[in-house]
Amino acid sequence: MISEFSIAFFNIAAILFTCLIGCLVLLVGILYIIDVTQKKQTIRRNYPVIGRFRYLFEHLGEFFRQYFFAMDREELPFNRALRNWVYRASKDVDATLAFGSTRQINLNGEAIFLNAPYPTLDSNSACSTSLRIGNECRYPYDAPSIFNISGMSYGALSSVAVTALAKGAKKAHCWLNTGEGGLSSFHKDAGCDIIFQIGTAKYGVRDLNGNFAPNKLKDIAALPQVKMFEIKLSQGAKPGKGGMLPASKISKEIAEIRGIPEGEASISPNRHPNIHSNETLLDFIDEVRSLSGKPTGIKTVMGDPAWIHELCDAINARGAKSAPDFITLDCAEGGTGAAPQPLMDFVGMPLRESLPLLNRILEEKGLRKRIRIIASGKLVAPGAAALAIATGADFITSARGFMFSLGCIQAMQCNKNTCPTGITTHKASLQKGLDPNEKSNRVANYHKQLIKHLEMISHSCGVHDPRELSHKHVRIVTQHNKSIPMKELI
Ligand SMILES: Cc1cc2nc3c(=O)[nH]c(=O)nc-3n(C[C@H](O)[C@H](O)[C@H](O)COP(=O)(O)O)c2cc1C
Repeated sequence: MISEFSIAFFNIAAILFTCLIGCLVLLVGILYIIDVTQKKQTIRRNYPVIGRFRYLFEHLGEFFRQYFFAMDREELPFNRALRNWVYRASKDVDATLAFGSTRQINLNGEAIFLNAPYPTLDSNSACSTSLRIGNECRYPYDAPSIFNISGMSYGALSSVAVTALAKGAKKAHCWLNTGEGGLSSFHKDAGCDIIFQIGTAKYGVRDLNGNFAPNKLKDIAALPQVKMFEIKLSQGAKPGKGGMLPASKISKEIAEIRGIPEGEASISPNRHPNIHSNETLLDFIDEVRSLSGKPTGIKTVMGDPAWIHELCDAINARGAKSAPDFITLDCAEGGTGAAPQPLMDFVGMPLRESLPLLNRILEEKGLRKRIRIIASGKLVAPGAAALAIATGADFITSARGFMFSLGCIQAMQCNKNTCPTGITTHKASLQKGLDPNEKSNRVANYHKQLIKHLEMISHSCGVHDPRELSHKHVRIVTQHNKSIPMKELI
């Protein structure tokens, strides 16, 4: 028997259902009228209501492609195979794979390392060593690690991400570059080695008018953990543009550290106002090095190689002492917190070409021993790292590799304050999932595994230190199933 309660329940359910349908119809009606009367979007005007699904699917497609549709080696900027290598390395789990490589090794441009017929026994395998930068400075830096963390500012990154990177760098014995946003307590507190970057807005070392403030630089240089200064001329993802931090990411604290107003977008000048020639560049390097006593170098992406020739000539005219102690060579495929697409897509030379070129020009000008080369740009896994070392780099750095170690899922939202993994957002609700202590272990694991595998490639090629790798150990595929010695290309 149906009870009175059940009848009442069904009646209420029927009324609610009818209301729901009514609301839906009303909503569709309203959306229909909005769509046919608006003039901004053709699809919605021509296909009212259903046209909206295009925008929804376009948005959702970004997420679904990554999980369901894209093949292992397909996605950009980093495919799943590479990301998974970093994730496994960061978790320090079994790094072996079964069955065979999914890399298409016969594609034009792919590099292949040449194994030695009789590699040394494991007890005598390859090992990376420390290397001195700025031998002639008052405080040269014996950099312990060949692999380091590239510049990413506090601002582009969240406080928890910077803390995790700094603690990870301390555990890994590598350096952390501040990026152009100045030095925060999150960088300092972990006690890791720090490279202070001087961006074009001179955040952290500027006066109220935005000019270089020597006293501020002296204060920073007095910190023992600040090991070097890097003057950023350009960055691979946006040569010719300064740093860009959207207003939504300028919190009170970030505004204070940078010396700018809170809540206003922070747009750095496209070049250092005080550097407009090789001479003024060398003057500024000299000023920073004299004030700090510490190695001072530049970060740049290569445009016209003639500039490097001219810079070297200007250095040689003054004497090799005036040279930058290092050049960080970033490349067209470099990453960014925010940059205009045309610059990312079209401007600057890729590392594969610019790195051997820079190496060769420095050798020709007699400056190769004086200037260390630090390379960056998609060097997130051991193969790319080994290739960079073999083609001229003394050190390699990575930004996005270390972001992956923090749990980055390549959501491509660094410029929106909505990063779902808490790495590039200042929203506490999104940061709460990122535990800096736990993630610092992942940073250190990733660093350890990358070096271990870099050493493994070196060992297989028959050398005792990755820095002994050279172009002699590399062939480049030029046509299907045919490769030539790398030397022929440089
Ligand atoms: C979120 C983010 C912020 C960055 N901020 C800076 C910066 O402040 N200064 C700088 O010189 N480069 C900055 N970069 C560029 C990196 O330092 C690096 O040169 C570039 O991403 C290439 O390395 P990768 O391929 O390992 O990411 C940033 C990159 C990312 C992804």
